[in-house]
Amino acid sequence: MHNGKARAFTNIALIKYWGKKDPKLILPMNSSLSLTLDAFYTETSVSFSKDYTEDLFYLDGYLQEGEKKMQKVSRLLNLARKQAGIYDHAVVHSHNFVPTAAGLASSASGLAALAGACNEALALNLSSTELSRFARKGSGSACRSIYGGFAEWKKGDSDQTSFALPVDANQWENELAMIFIITNDKAKKISSRNGMQQTVETSLYYNDWLKAAEADIKTAKNAIANQDFHALGEVIEANCLKMHATTLAATPPFSYWTPDSLKAMNKVYEMRQNGQNCYFTMDAGPNVKVLCPKKDSQKIYNDLQKEFSEQQLVLAHAGKGIESLETEVSK
Ligand code: DP6
Repeated sequence: MHNGKARAFTNIALIKYWGKKDPKLILPMNSSLSLTLDAFYTETSVSFSKDYTEDLFYLDGYLQEGEKKMQKVSRLLNLARKQAGIYDHAVVHSHNFVPTAAGLASSASGLAALAGACNEALALNLSSTELSRFARKGSGSACRSIYGGFAEWKKGDSDQTSFALPVDANQWENELAMIFIITNDKAKKISSRNGMQQTVETSLYYNDWLKAAEADIKTAKNAIANQDFHALGEVIEANCLKMHATTLAATPPFSYWTPDSLKAMNKVYEMRQNGQNCYFTMDAGPNVKVLCPKKDSQKIYNDLQKEFSEQQLVLAHAGKGIESLETEVSK
């Protein structure tokens, strides 16, 4: 029996990963940049044993059945077994820690935690770079959750050269906050995996997105180096809007926005006009995330409370990198 356990925090992309050059290896079309956050994380334990007759995956206590639900997990388990030279099946227990039950579970923290747990269980001794590369093959965004604070996923052009690295901000990340506005999601869900594929294949704006993303990442890194909040805010908000514009020019067109997303975006514009320091970003769903300086976060939170209920708002700060945890059963 080989056991391992790890905790990984989720990350939110400030400059988005949107499109794959190689869907099998998960090589991205563009580099991306994220902030790891403290409010959401996943703890995952894995045990490999000759006594098991199949791979089993429990998420928050519930057995996940069917190829689709197992897809990302199976991929990492197979890669881990290959690397360790074993054939044992595995049992995975994963718990998402989210402050509300609003469907904010993330594949970034989930697949990063599984990668870390496999690394422990099979004593793979992966460096951070190797662990990032391994997590990437479960879910692209997971490769950034290996690190705390800011991380850049350098797109690379092969399995070897595509991984995330920390972006040194001289502790500036600890002066920032992100407020999640959890909107009611009644819209039909298109996963990020399917959404980005449809966009790469059909969107008229996709090439322009790629050009913009390369420039935006440089601007964002400069803003971080200069600790310039407004420069960072402007580029992350514009980058998110450009990503979402590609979906409108896809065939068939689609959008992740709901009326509540627009309400949240307009509220951010309004607060900014009133002198507040805040900018938004959105991922492949209707929730809106507001980046602001930590010192202003309580005031901004209070302002948002005028429009959204307390259950819809979550205040987060910069989170830590992946951690190994003690397993209950000794090796
Ligand atoms: C919009 O990492 O979930 O959140 O690699 O197919 O598992 P797969 O996709 P995933 O995509 C995340 C897309 C995004 C932007 C980002 O996190 O960079």
